[in-house]
Amino acid sequence: MRILHVASEAYPFSRTGGLADVMVALPAELTRLGHQATVLSPWYADLVGTPREIWRGGDVRLGELTEDGVRFLFLETPVFKRPGIYHPDDVRRFSAWGQLVLPVLAASGVRFDVLHGHDWAAGLVVAHARLRHIPSVFTIHNLQYQGRWNIHDSFAWTGLPQWLNTEQGVEFYGDLNLMKAGLVYAGHVTTVSPTYAQEITTPEFGEGLQGVLQDRLAEGRLSGVINGLDQERWNPRTDGHVLPYRSMTGKAANVAALRQEFKLDDAPILSCVSRLAVQKGLDILLAALPEIVKTWNVVLLGSGDVQLEAAFAGWARRSPRVRHATGMNEALSHRLYAGAHAFAMPSRFEPCGLSQMIALRYGTPPVARRTGGLADTVPEEIGFLFDDPTPEAFLEALGRAAALVTKPRTWNARAKLGLPLDFSWEGPAKRYLEIYGEVMAE
Ligand code: ADP
Ligand code: GLC
Repeated sequence: MRILHVASEAYPFSRTGGLADVMVALPAELTRLGHQATVLSPWYADLVGTPREIWRGGDVRLGELTEDGVRFLFLETPVFKRPGIYHPDDVRRFSAWGQLVLPVLAASGVRFDVLHGHDWAAGLVVAHARLRHIPSVFTIHNLQYQGRWNIHDSFAWTGLPQWLNTEQGVEFYGDLNLMKAGLVYAGHVTTVSPTYAQEITTPEFGEGLQGVLQDRLAEGRLSGVINGLDQERWNPRTDGHVLPYRSMTGKAANVAALRQEFKLDDAPILSCVSRLAVQKGLDILLAALPEIVKTWNVVLLGSGDVQLEAAFAGWARRSPRVRHATGMNEALSHRLYAGAHAFAMPSRFEPCGLSQMIALRYGTPPVARRTGGLADTVPEEIGFLFDDPTPEAFLEALGRAAALVTKPRTWNARAKLGLPLDFSWEGPAKRYLEIYGEVMAE
């Protein structure tokens, strides 16, 4: 089968979070299973790597690179010729993208059997695929980012026929909604964990789109397929960014190294690697910090929300038990997974989450909210889960962790259960292949 993935980011070429990671690991697994997976993403001005040009038409170019046995295609148009992935005029940029993708692929001779669009930025590509009778699957990685703009100003950007400009189509409370285009016009909609698939059909998690999602569920066209992890990239036994280890004894050297690196005292270390966004519940962590620092050192790596960044930076200046690093820092992220005792993930919602899987495999039990993919991947006997998105509930779970972390034997016996956990992509990739087969048979 020839599968074309379409997404706004793909590791290692462009990345803000987990979507990019999935865009190399899933296609690599599909390839391993004997299929041909290609990934198409925009050719941003600051792309990591230099694609080889394979096609050009006017001011549009298509380039190519190979990574992990997967073919990556990059489409350049004037709207992507600036650094950075996301910008305030994204609805316009990704509307242009939605119009261009299929004609450019056809003109350049790129053939595929099924189109797999990811998140709102690929929504219009899916709508155009529907008009051309191309089978498609659409995956929600995060329902909160939808790509909305007043429909009177924006519908013309889409290149769609006027009859799709309705409530049954791409219109959503007076706006054009690119996410909704993907949800309505894909042959099958998936999201990245079974629990999130249920949650998004409710008003609490549905971001206004719960009605559309309930309809798709009733049609048998909504599924949850859990993400895997690139287990070679995230393997403490071979990880070149840390002191590699295969046991809790080996891990202890990394804890000592992290203590030294950040000049921390003897209190246990709680780490966090995260986008600073409301989704991730870091305001909950912030509110709980006065209590947390009585027991833990906290080392946070993450940028995003400017107010949160400023608040954590302030804490780091005032408290020797709080450290905060900003920017995308792959090497440091590995040291934080390996060198902490526990990992904080108080997410308000979490479609899947990759960080908790990494932390588990690094012997660093997550203290996490029981939601979405966290509920599906963090075993109760290893992690410390809580239900309410409040500082009190988070502190209660941290209290359970603190009571054990001071007893190294008990703690290590618990944490080491995570080391052999298998988050392979094989099962999920096979499930996607079944879904591709279903939409192709229609
Ligand atoms: P999301 O995609 O919602 O941000 P995930 O848990 O799916 O959350 O994936 C986040 C990934 O991005 C993890 O691999 C995490 O280690 C990584 N990450 C987040 N922030 C940073 C950062 N500042 N530096 C390096 N890696 C980061
Ligand atoms: C999104 C979600 C995250 C998920 C990732 C990859 O960024 O926030 O939970 O793991 O996509 O699917």
